[in-house]
Amino acid sequence: MLKICCIGAGYVGGPTMAMIAKKCPDVEVTVVDVNERRIAAWQSDDLPIYEPGLDEVVKEALGRNLFFSTDIDRAIRAADVIFVSVNTPTKTFGAGAGCAADLQYWELCARRIREVAESDKIVVEKSTLPVRTAEAMERVLHAGDHGAHFEVLSNPEFLAEGTAMADLENPDRVLIGGHDTPSGRKALQTLVDVYAQWIPRERILTTNVWSAELSKLTANAFLAQRVSSINAISALCEATEADVSEVAHAIGTDSRIGPKFLRASIGFGGSCFKKDILNLVYLCESYGLKEPADYWRQVVLMNAYQESRFVTKMLRSMFNTMAGKRIAVFGFAFKADTGDTRESPAIRVCRQLLDERAAVTICDPKALDNARMELGDAAERVRFELDPYKACEGAHAIALLTEWTQFKELDYERIYASMEKPAFVFDGRNILDHQALYDLGFEVYSVGKALKSHYVS
Ligand code: UDX
Ligand code: ADP
Repeated sequence: MLKICCIGAGYVGGPTMAMIAKKCPDVEVTVVDVNERRIAAWQSDDLPIYEPGLDEVVKEALGRNLFFSTDIDRAIRAADVIFVSVNTPTKTFGAGAGCAADLQYWELCARRIREVAESDKIVVEKSTLPVRTAEAMERVLHAGDHGAHFEVLSNPEFLAEGTAMADLENPDRVLIGGHDTPSGRKALQTLVDVYAQWIPRERILTTNVWSAELSKLTANAFLAQRVSSINAISALCEATEADVSEVAHAIGTDSRIGPKFLRASIGFGGSCFKKDILNLVYLCESYGLKEPADYWRQVVLMNAYQESRFVTKMLRSMFNTMAGKRIAVFGFAFKADTGDTRESPAIRVCRQLLDERAAVTICDPKALDNARMELGDAAERVRFELDPYKACEGAHAIALLTEWTQFKELDYERIYASMEKPAFVFDGRNILDHQALYDLGFEVYSVGKALKSHYVS
């Protein structure tokens, strides 16, 4: 029986391993983490992350061929294949601070594997890493005279939060990079055989290690670039009375462009996009490629512009003062169907609202605990409210920051009646029925669309 160990029980490691265990009953999967609370939560009815469909998959395999443990050394020793799925945040210190990937957790894992392993292992990079990290890892793994052989593969994960289970079950592709050596090809085949148990072989792409590493960064950079591109156009739409949804639809019907990822918004968030682009920028710079670095950096700058443009618009339309005004913030997660708030645009938007001394009430069905943590000290000046109707009582404005379906289905007549007048809606995701809100009496602002105001013609 093939034994897999995954180090890191987070948003990537947990769901991915649960799916492998579900689809491959003849593979034993053990997920380990230094965080005891997380490991306990994975074995409880209250999983540490919210992801639609995850509960069922974990329940099906838990205790059968899916195990969670804090005994990292034991799992490493027992495993044939070790996935490393630890966090690789942006460095906050030293060389490359604010740009380069912080590889300390990854290297710690590599050192741990070398220290405790007693037999040959396939070590799989699952976390997104800079190109040629595998080379560094191989050197760490093989430092000293270790009897065992470590074969490093790169198998980046492309799942998106909120749709992780569908993405894992039916991915566009699985990408595995390995070395073109006898042991590299053998390791690659071992991993291909795992995925081939439920994914058509032609969707399992194999490349060299460096291509796999770079493809992950490139995919995220391209996706984020599309969001920044349509957001740049949204600013122009507001200035020209073009409608960004119409423009997105018109260009998206061109099969070369395609319709996806063209939703104008307050900006992209999530643990990957910004981090991966900055990582790409840092890589370009370290190879002396200034122009490519500047090109990709602009995607991140555009995103920050979109966030602050949204708050500026709120401020201007609310008569240049928000001090003391109550703002109901609808949604704090970086996207719908997740409780994840990492790099959520809502963090910066709320902080800017607090700087303006607005009285902020945050409403989110899944992300209130994370919102409290993200806001740190500032959380003391914020109200957190599960009930959107309560969040709106006496409010001057609603700022919709996450596209949760439930916000579309509210009784806005009731909400309007409970708010201060003029009542403003700022729809940062363009999901509400703007005409209906306007007809109820709201002043309606959206992204990349004409203002609907009862006062301004
Ligand atoms: C992303 C990639 O999609 C995934 O392949 C990779 O493995 C991890 O990074 P994720 O961050 O979970 O996944 O979510 P994604 O759906 O890509 O959205 C990222 C951000 O872009 C969100 O804040 C989302 O709201 C925003 N977005 C997305 C837009 O603003 N407009 C769009 O049209 C699409
Ligand atoms: P991702 O979104 O990439 O999955 P997360 O932060 O959700 O990132 O998960 C990464 C997990 O890796 C965390 O639960 C963290 O505790 C774990 N981790 C980090 N370093 C180590 C390590 N050296 N050994 C084991 N687990 C680790």
